[in-house]
Amino acid sequence: MKNILLTGTAGFIGSNFAPYFLEKYPEYNLINLDLLTYAGNLENIKECESNPRYKFIKGDICNRELVEFIFNEYDIQGVIHFAAESHVDNSIKNPSVFIETNINGTFTLLDVAQKYWMDKPFTYKENYIGCRFHHISTDEVYGTLNETDLFTEETPYTPNSPYSASKASSDMIVRSYQETYGMNTVITNCSNNYGPKQHDEKL
Ligand SMILES: NC(=O)c1ccc[n+]([C@@H]2O[C@H](COP(=O)([O-])OP(=O)(O)OC[C@H]3O[C@@H](n4cnc5c(N)ncnc54)[C@H](O)[C@@H]3O)[C@@H](O)[C@H]2O)c1
Repeated sequence: MKNILLTGTAGFIGSNFAPYFLEKYPEYNLINLDLLTYAGNLENIKECESNPRYKFIKGDICNRELVEFIFNEYDIQGVIHFAAESHVDNSIKNPSVFIETNINGTFTLLDVAQKYWMDKPFTYKENYIGCRFHHISTDEVYGTLNETDLFTEETPYTPNSPYSASKASSDMIVRSYQETYGMNTVITNCSNNYGPKQHDEKL
């Protein structure tokens, strides 16, 4: 059994992901770190509560001491990082929490993972070869589309709001850990989702 750290799975996308993953991959335990901001709701993940392969920890991804404790206590072998301040309109009214959570929080997780999994640049510790950091980002880092164009992975980054700038910054930090330390990272830049468990503010 391997333990994966999920962040932000009391929110919309993570709370759809966690029960799906638990059922599909019985060889993994999931540890969910979530601060339960206004966007997080334990009701969203109550279907996971009684699963012995699922554990919830209330806390902040920016809290380095806590993140280090979780890596050591649960011998974390993968991270899937959903936690973020995610609403563009809020980022216009109050950008500072976006910078703190989306940039500093991502950095904290990444740096703790790199030090826990790796001996030195491009060298994973024997028991941690293959450990991966999956950063969930957004297509908003590519800017604004007109009626006909498409984004691709080659589209230049053009973030237009404090939200998308904070996500673009976190993407760059993740990229730098791949390039500088040889860390196994993946960044996914999905477009807008909608569906069950979505916060009303996004409708
Ligand atoms: N919703 C979309 O359509 C969409 C589209 C593209 C990308 N994304 C990205 O997907 C991810 C998940 O989006 P979502 O819509 O589910 O978000 P959401 O706002 O519904 O949920 C965010 C979760 O993160 C938690 N959180 C916030 N700050 C935290 C902190 N400091 N420490 C720990 N937990 C914290 C919240 O409590 C909440 O449970 C985000 O990274 C977002 O940028 C979302």
